[in-house]
Amino acid sequence: MNPLTATHPTCGLFISFEGIDGAGKSTHIAGLAAAFRAEGRAVTLTREPGGTPLAEKLRALVLGDAMDPLTESLLVFAARRDHLVNVIEPALARGDVVLCDRFTDATFAYQGGGRGFDLETLGTLERWVQHTPAMADSAVRQPDLTVWFDLPAETAAARLAHARAPDRFETQPVAFFLRVRAGYAARAAAEPQRFARINADQSREQVWQAIAEVFVARAWLSRIHPPGGKAA
Ligand code: TYD
Repeated sequence: MNPLTATHPTCGLFISFEGIDGAGKSTHIAGLAAAFRAEGRAVTLTREPGGTPLAEKLRALVLGDAMDPLTESLLVFAARRDHLVNVIEPALARGDVVLCDRFTDATFAYQGGGRGFDLETLGTLERWVQHTPAMADSAVRQPDLTVWFDLPAETAAARLAHARAPDRFETQPVAFFLRVRAGYAARAAAEPQRFARINADQSREQVWQAIAEVFVARAWLSRIHPPGGKAA
């Protein structure tokens, strides 16, 4: 049995997944959900912007409508607040493993890096939005681990060239994604213990192996499961 499950049956885990568009997060998130469930953990699989009915409406606005960077930042943080209060915090309190496709690092990377919006303002919003009355004084909810799928912006752009119906971010030029990638690199450098950088510029099997090794090293999974949620 997983040592974590054995010793902390109600210890929630909050894991976020980040990277520029085209980095290939989705199949690996599904694979991790299957791996945790196979080891007896309850999993909450969710995403940002989104994860609640209100936040999904805000997502449609952010991905579809033109707006200035402050409006964009406020909407993603409004969506985050609703999601945190109604989904993430209750799931962690139940002891679930929360697998969240993007979280606040995406705001620093896309609105901060990509759009060039003020990082200090984003930091203020982060402290407001990610604190709840149940937490200690100035505590700010952050993921226990952030899996960062890193690959060159040019490689991601080539992958996205085949994407159907690109959204407002996916249509941005490569220069935008160079800034987004630099935004992620800055967040990872500031909090190296929270980030696991995965080289996403390799085969799907190699990427899965690298991710699985991170989870086994932390004793969050007891073994390396097959990729894509296939049965062992
Ligand atoms: P994404 O997570 O890539 O979903 P899909 O796989 O359906 O395309 O899309 C979400 C987009 O929203 C992505 O381009 C990044 C952007 N985004 C922000 O700009 N700021 C944020 O805070 C978040 C969470 C996402």
